[in-house]
Amino acid sequence: MTSQLSFDQQRNPNARGREERERILANPGFGQIFTDHMVSIDFTEGQGWHDARVEPYGPLVLDPATSVFHYAQELFEGLKAYRQANGAIVAFRPFANAARFNLSAARMAMPELPEETFVESLELLVQADRDWVPTTEGHSLYLRPFIIATQVGLGVNYPSKSYRYMAIASPAASYFAGGVKPVKVWLSTEYTRAAPGGTGFAKCGGNYAAAFVAQRQAVEQDCDQVVWLDAFEHRYVEEMGGMNLFFVFGDRLLTPALTGTLLPGITRDSILTFAAELGLTVEEGRISIEEWQDGCASGVLTEVFACGTAAVVTPVGSVKGADREWTVGDGTPGPVTLKIREELMGIQYGTRPDNHGWVHKIC
Ligand code: PLP
Ligand code: COI
Repeated sequence: MTSQLSFDQQRNPNARGREERERILANPGFGQIFTDHMVSIDFTEGQGWHDARVEPYGPLVLDPATSVFHYAQELFEGLKAYRQANGAIVAFRPFANAARFNLSAARMAMPELPEETFVESLELLVQADRDWVPTTEGHSLYLRPFIIATQVGLGVNYPSKSYRYMAIASPAASYFAGGVKPVKVWLSTEYTRAAPGGTGFAKCGGNYAAAFVAQRQAVEQDCDQVVWLDAFEHRYVEEMGGMNLFFVFGDRLLTPALTGTLLPGITRDSILTFAAELGLTVEEGRISIEEWQDGCASGVLTEVFACGTAAVVTPVGSVKGADREWTVGDGTPGPVTLKIREELMGIQYGTRPDNHGWVHKIC
């Protein structure tokens, strides 16, 4: 697939050698180390998108008055390239990320990027850095496309007239150091992530900047992650730091509905789609923290898990709030959580059938 833009491709003359790369790939962590290349495309009002290129990874030089530094007009995406058992390198639903990128762009008054250009940029980056796609089971190459406002000036009467789209790549092990170890979550009743009419559904950096204080509070409370609640009553569950949530009632799954205040996760959508094939029923609705706590006490709520590109499927083992604390099930990963995790990873790594055409071959 090619887009109308033609990409200039420059090889990195200082690309790291095999030995150094293999040493890094033996223990990549998450989001710490970047590959040898990056993609850049510029946008100027009147001219549109131009100067598409794959170039050596490296720092940017920007004027201190560049708009993004002051008004945070920026957004990002996150997806992974996987090395399958047959040697193919694939991405999982990259067109869904392209569509969400444009949904976020519309909310942030930024230009949309043609979906084919978004996907082609990632194909070219992965092809240039194909040796960086890990071979270790469960590891992957995390892809981070993003866009920043580049106009220089402090006026806020209009959005920026120029932008830069970029994509970088980072070999990734598990997002959580413990692998599938259940996480302990903190119910944030002091802070709000998103309100109706705001930017909750968009993947803009500001949502994450505003969340760090609550994430720090979670860690102080000996928890791993924040659970965000609705803005009005701090009662209904929305999502986690970088993940959506699913509640398991025996063979019924419930996930908070997309009200505009939570991110429409692609993992969430994939699970809603394939769960029926595993004999589960699914529902998008509303769940309060009382229903969560009472359901665990009575035993009708059997498991809770979080899902997202980085975190894959991660069990929630226990919950803590300002005035309450409880365990989900017996605190260990439940069978439904593990079955969903296995199915999802099976599709991504090519060991299970891809019934929905989600796997996109890159090389
Ligand atoms: N919610 C938030 C706030 C996120 O940052 C993410 C991660 O991208 C998700 C949910 C899960 O989305 P996805 O499954 O598309 O990775
Ligand atoms: C992802 O899963 O891609 C995320 O964006 C989560 C986090 C690293 C921000």
